[in-house]
Amino acid sequence: MKNKILVTGGAGYIGSHTCIALHQAGYEIVVYDNLSNSSREAINRVSTLIGQPIEFIEGDIRDAESLKQVFAAHHFFGVIHFAGLKAVGESVAKPLLYYNNNVSGTITLLEVMAEYNIKNIVFSSSATVYGDPEYLPIDESSKRSCTNPYGQSKLTVEYILADLAVSDDSWNLIALRYFNPVGAHPSGQIGEDPNDIPNNLMPYISQVAVGKLEKLSIFGNDYPTVDGTGVRDFIHVTDLAQGHVAALNYLDKQVSLNEGGKTQQDSVGFLPINLGTGKGTSVLELVSAFSEVTGQTIPYQFTDRRAGDIASCYASADKAKMLLGWQAELSIADMCQDTWRWQSMNPNGYNVS
Ligand code: NAD
Ligand code: WQD
Repeated sequence: MKNKILVTGGAGYIGSHTCIALHQAGYEIVVYDNLSNSSREAINRVSTLIGQPIEFIEGDIRDAESLKQVFAAHHFFGVIHFAGLKAVGESVAKPLLYYNNNVSGTITLLEVMAEYNIKNIVFSSSATVYGDPEYLPIDESSKRSCTNPYGQSKLTVEYILADLAVSDDSWNLIALRYFNPVGAHPSGQIGEDPNDIPNNLMPYISQVAVGKLEKLSIFGNDYPTVDGTGVRDFIHVTDLAQGHVAALNYLDKQVSLNEGGKTQQDSVGFLPINLGTGKGTSVLELVSAFSEVTGQTIPYQFTDRRAGDIASCYASADKAKMLLGWQAELSIADMCQDTWRWQSMNPNGYNVS
């Protein structure tokens, strides 16, 4: 079936939002997730939002036998591969876990895909592969370098995908490099649900706003930026989700053209694409936008810079617009509003008991 997609990690933050966008775009989805950083409740809520049950398989991408059963039971057009661990600090403490999960897991998935002759994949990469950027905005040909095992695991998978494209031109491999995903579904039913004290800025701000945390520590106010605080390219998760639909539509179009012999081009090959807004926002600007939009005061203090942080990071989003016809639509105010709706309606995330 041409529109059937396997979504690994589809119970997670970005995956759950993407499942909704895929369904709305007419794709049929099967979610495969080991629930190591997510819950069944997210799947239940996505099912309610789309008005029909989601086909969900609890399984690990490192488990080849389990994956084979899934590929034997369905004929997929391709895979959107979100499954992975993503905490930078944890990756420094547990590098083997990160390489095993993110790199070995991806190799196992690719091996099973090859065995079943399914060769279309959209991989969740990250702006982290650019390390400390040489110039801004960051385009896809910028130098790549990483300083932590999480980033290395993403970069290593990108190298593997590129090598695969060289080895066999029937693979179509898109690596979407996300900048800083924030926000939640406008229904307030699904959103980001960190297990512990959040590492990332937006969930930290929203937990301060809801009274779970006392105050925000802003890591450094002496960066060479507009107000001394770090600058990032925050992108609404529902825009990001649409970016995946656009990437799949692009693959579909290219594969159809090739099948019809209408193009000289053999395959998409390895195609890295930034998903960002192209606009930088500082930490202080985000805090003040959140306060303004939600009416909540966010107490904060300045502390030392966080190890490994960079001053500024924002995307050139031109390639996504040119190739995929996609661009981010939602504003920082939308990101704050939707984060707050999710956080205030679900102060304990998916832990509803
Ligand atoms: P998330 O943790 O919410 O989702 C990842 C999902 O993958 C979870 O549901 C988890 O249970 C599942 N998973 C992890 N290891 C697995 C395994 N071995 N087998 C099966 N399932 C497994 O994270 P997210 O924010 O939705 O991120 C999705 C992807 O995007 C990840 O690969 C992440 O590295 C990447 N990414 C995230 C960000 C971000 O800031 N959120 C930025 C850039 C890239
Ligand atoms: C943003 C800004 C912090 C928390 C991380 C990963 C990256 C990608 C996205 C997966 C920085 C400041 C933060 C806080 C703060 N994930 N900050 N107080 O570091 O840009 O990117 O998530 O691929 O790989 O590294 O995002 O949200 O942690 O930080 O002042 O409590 O907010 O210093 O300037 P980051 P972030």
